[in-house]
Amino acid sequence: MSSITACVRFRPLSSGERRDHGDSVCIHCVDSQIFVLKDEKEEEFTFSFDKVFYENSEQAQVYEFLALPIVKDAVDAINGTIITYGQTGAGKTYSMEGPSIMVCDEQKRGLVPRIVDGLFDCIKSSEGTVKHSIKLSMVEIYMEKVRDLFDLSKDNIQIKESKAQGIVLNGVTEISVSDPAEALQTLSSGIANRTVGETQMNMSSSRSHCIYLFTVQQELKKDNRLKTGKLILVDLAGSEKAEKTGAEGKVLEEAKTINKSLSALGNVINALTCGSPGKAYHIPYRDSKLTRLLQDALGGNSRTALLCCCSPSPSNASESLSTLRFGMRAKHIKMSLHAKSSEDKYAKKDGSPSSSKNQACERILDQLRERFDVEDVVLLEELFRLSGILYDPGSPEDLDSAFEDVTSQTIIQLQHMVEELVSTVEELKNENMTLKDRLAAGERSDTQRKEAGGHISSLLHRVSGTLGSFLPWF
Ligand SMILES: Nc1ncnc2c1ncn2[C@@H]1O[C@H](COP(=O)(O)OP(=O)(O)OP(=O)(O)O)[C@@H](O)[C@H]1O
Ligand SMILES: [Mg+2]
Repeated sequence: MSSITACVRFRPLSSGERRDHGDSVCIHCVDSQIFVLKDEKEEEFTFSFDKVFYENSEQAQVYEFLALPIVKDAVDAINGTIITYGQTGAGKTYSMEGPSIMVCDEQKRGLVPRIVDGLFDCIKSSEGTVKHSIKLSMVEIYMEKVRDLFDLSKDNIQIKESKAQGIVLNGVTEISVSDPAEALQTLSSGIANRTVGETQMNMSSSRSHCIYLFTVQQELKKDNRLKTGKLILVDLAGSEKAEKTGAEGKVLEEAKTINKSLSALGNVINALTCGSPGKAYHIPYRDSKLTRLLQDALGGNSRTALLCCCSPSPSNASESLSTLRFGMRAKHIKMSLHAKSSEDKYAKKDGSPSSSKNQACERILDQLRERFDVEDVVLLEELFRLSGILYDPGSPEDLDSAFEDVTSQTIIQLQHMVEELVSTVEELKNENMTLKDRLAAGERSDTQRKEAGGHISSLLHRVSGTLGSFLPWF
């Protein structure tokens, strides 16, 4: 049972923070995993994370601890997700990209360029036996819409769920890349399309959540089998208080949407860590595009790492405290909770709310069967809602995607049935061939026996003839 790897990174004090508070910081380092934070009321909170990167930490250390194991897994077809989370101006984009992904000091290179190099290095080392290919996609979630950063005309990409592939971005642009330079060039064109703005807290503030998607496909040369690993990097927009950022107008609207989706993320994490056996609970993945997109990364089929970025300044202690509390909760998500994702959100135990829900579902199904009216929309909606496929019947978008989910699930089930049929037919064919071979072998040995018999009797005949000519009484 694996959990999310949760780390903390404190950036160096900014010039503004130094101006207002000198060199004072609100954290006291205990060791590389434990530290104490003092809030505005001088209250002390001790935190323990998988790793703490203090102000003087290097980008390479973050990469090696947090990202390298996930990169190696992705090349082995295990999905991975890395998320940077924290207050605006806390160093999320800096950790992810560095000052620039194209040209910068080797020391300052962020996770993205290091991950690109790491992926190609891992591929090179297994060149003999496996053929790899890497495809890139890049999207941002801006004002609750998923925009394709490689093709701005695709400005409202739908998020779908498929049994075979998990969460997918419908129709997103995928670009194949063959070396690190090409990959970085491609990603840099996506970054240039990102929505950024200036606030009092950050000159270049991310106004959207940015998602880098690496699809690593491997073809095993000996048997032509295909395996795919997805690596998702998420540079979140920062939480912010309007009075601190000085947001108004459009920037304020952006901030409200950002805060709303971050609180949806917090709710998902709470639901995942609060659920206890026998208790009915629901994971609100569909409450925001961000949580829906991260459904596999949170409690699903992915190796996930979270980097909580914080300012060490006493002026931001309360924001840092809330970031750290979020990180602590996330740390407790067990990835085995996968089974409790969207489809299975009610605990299954006799007498629990799930059994009455199941009975209600059965009743609706019976009514639909009796009437032969599978297009009774009201009943279908009720059924979808009860079985957790649909959360908000009032939302046409949710309704659309619920119908599509059901259709794609039916298609996938049909595909599985066809695959099973094909393999049964194959098995029968093979069995038939074996039987034919055995039959032919049986016939052959029968003829051979007859032929051998004939041969022996003719030999005996000849022998007796020969002997007879020498021994007349024979
Ligand atoms: N570890 C670090 N070392 C040096 N400078 C840093 C570090 N982390 C962040 N900074 C600097 O702090 C400023 C804000 O960082 P960044 O843009 O990464 O914040 P952010 O968390 O992405 O904010 P937002 O949510 O507004 O996008 C930048 O000027 C960046 O260069
Ligand atoms: Mg940013």
